[in-house]
Amino acid sequence: MLSIFSFLSQMYPPKPRFTEKEIPPLHGKVYIITGASSGIGLELAKILYSKHAKIYIAARSESKAFSAISSIKTLFSDSTGGSKTAQGYELQLGTNCIGTFLFTKLLTPLLLTTAKTSSSSSVRVIWVSSSAAEGLSPKGGVDMQNLDYKSEKAGMTKYGVSKAGNYLHAMEFGKKFGGEGVLSVPLNPGNLDSELYRSQGGIVRWVLRRLVLYPPVFGAYTLLFAGLSGDVGKMGRGVGSVFPFRADGMGLMIAVVPWGRFMKICGDLVAASKAKTEGGTGIARSFWEWNEERVKPYP
Ligand SMILES: NC(=O)c1ccc[n+]([C@@H]2O[C@H](COP(=O)([O-])OP(=O)(O)OC[C@H]3O[C@@H](n4cnc5c(N)ncnc54)[C@H](OP(=O)(O)O)[C@@H]3O)[C@@H](O)[C@H]2O)c1
Repeated sequence: MLSIFSFLSQMYPPKPRFTEKEIPPLHGKVYIITGASSGIGLELAKILYSKHAKIYIAARSESKAFSAISSIKTLFSDSTGGSKTAQGYELQLGTNCIGTFLFTKLLTPLLLTTAKTSSSSSVRVIWVSSSAAEGLSPKGGVDMQNLDYKSEKAGMTKYGVSKAGNYLHAMEFGKKFGGEGVLSVPLNPGNLDSELYRSQGGIVRWVLRRLVLYPPVFGAYTLLFAGLSGDVGKMGRGVGSVFPFRADGMGLMIAVVPWGRFMKICGDLVAASKAKTEGGTGIARSFWEWNEERVKPYP
């Protein structure tokens, strides 16, 4: 029979001594939690996910499971537990850079053929980067030694890296194919109230909306300018059709910014865009080649 001491001790236990504070990072660990769409299992899933573990939630109701997953991801948007592509790359790097790279690579033969029979500067590739490329990425845009994130970084830094990657892809693509009549245009669309902020909490979204976000159609205007404006075509002339070099030949590198203007890009991205023989760091070329390796299995 349960003693009165045991009964009371379990009814009114002492403070927990083994909590999330005692748990180390759980990168690479996998946990399956049954009944985790609510209650104790959900709380456990939150703790383990906050420590970057990969979590599988087994539950009776599909809709409750999805709602639990989305609430956990919202709470711990910095976790790397679920933020990987099917191929195992960091999700933003995979989506924003590797996927885009492959898609563009597959379309390039068609772009080149089309450019031969189209009016000057009308065939363009628009690379949707972000102010995060300059504001949130490490020096040089991407750290070639840490693209697998063995040294863990904040989610915003990873976003910045992926957006710097877009800019570097634009530069490298321009160098490779500008001379064949395809214009390569990097841009920052502006801060738009889109689904991009899906992983942010409601309060953060509310504050962002009040302070910096504009209706998404404004972002469409930035893209419209980059894709169709004759001014962009004029900027590309004089140096093949490599858009980001100014027509004055001074090597000043620019991007299209909200809502359809030109602006100089920051110094370390300029250096990253140039080869070592041009006085740069050669990061854009290295990043291009890294992407080439990643997409090799997809002819
Ligand atoms: N919004 C901004 O403030 C802002 C600022 C600077 C730069 N940008 C850049 O602008 C681009 C478009 O952003 P947005 O604001 O329009 O974003 P969004 O509302 O989040 O997404 C637009 C599209 O991306 C797709 N997508 C999202 N995650 C994906 C994934 N993992 N795999 C495949 N497709 C995925 C979405 O498909 P689903 O509907 O299926 O998810 C949707 O079709 C992005 O490259 C972003 O980095 C946006």
